[in-house]
Amino acid sequence: MVSTTFKVLAGLWVCMQPVLAITNPVYIITNAEQPSLSRPGLTPVGFKRANECLPALFSTLNIGKIIMCPRNDDSEVCFETLSTTQPTADALGLPIDTSCGADENTDDDCVTDLLKKFAKNSTESVLIVWDIQEIGALLGEDLDLDTDEADADDGIHFDLVTLVVKNKIKGIVSQNCTDIDGIAPGTDTPTKRAFGPSKRSRSAKLRLPEA
Ligand SMILES: *[C@@H]1O[C@H](CO)[C@@H](O)[C@H](O)[C@H]1NC(C)=O
Ligand SMILES: *[C@@H]1O[C@H](CO)[C@@H](O)[C@H](O)[C@H]1NC(C)=O
Repeated sequence: MVSTTFKVLAGLWVCMQPVLAITNPVYIITNAEQPSLSRPGLTPVGFKRANECLPALFSTLNIGKIIMCPRNDDSEVCFETLSTTQPTADALGLPIDTSCGADENTDDDCVTDLLKKFAKNSTESVLIVWDIQEIGALLGEDLDLDTDEADADDGIHFDLVTLVVKNKIKGIVSQNCTDIDGIAPGTDTPTKRAFGPSKRSRSAKLRLPEA
């Protein structure tokens, strides 16, 4: 009797966990480079990334759905996600699902629920484009992944793609955008990492492959 009750409770508990156990590959990027001082739009490098690199990159990754946080003026989030995503959506011929916001009024499970729903019908990959300021919350709180703010902070930049499969971060790699990612000619130093990684990045679990 006790064990039955326990099993029912345990079952309920498992059902209530927003665990993202889908096998569809999920690619997560931030908005492309934005100017300093909260000026709107993308920088020239960000524009190049959004228009000349991302559409080609994601054309090779079997994307079947695009999820993006929409601009929210009250919370001041996701201003540059649309200009980052639109060229890729056009190239892939996919709509952009903006039903999940990145503000405090959005249900933490919103993105997970969208992913689960999509995974029921499809084995294709999903592209998520999120505000760079909110990416830590997306990974840690919304998707409930095994990472922490420090990892996300140190690990997530404009020029990366985070791959998530079956509730795990499988890798964080460079977008390898020609001419804008990696080391510019003439700027390499003879001693690698002359200034050393910061204490925080040394303690971070996620190490970034160099572009
Ligand atoms: C899944 O596919 C079925 C049948 O094609 C369709 O009716 C349903 O709307 C689809 N669900 C989603 C979430 O796309
Ligand atoms: C970028 O290049 C690196 C090194 O060749 C590779 O490991 C990585 O997967 C590439 N990134 C993408 C998004 O393909």
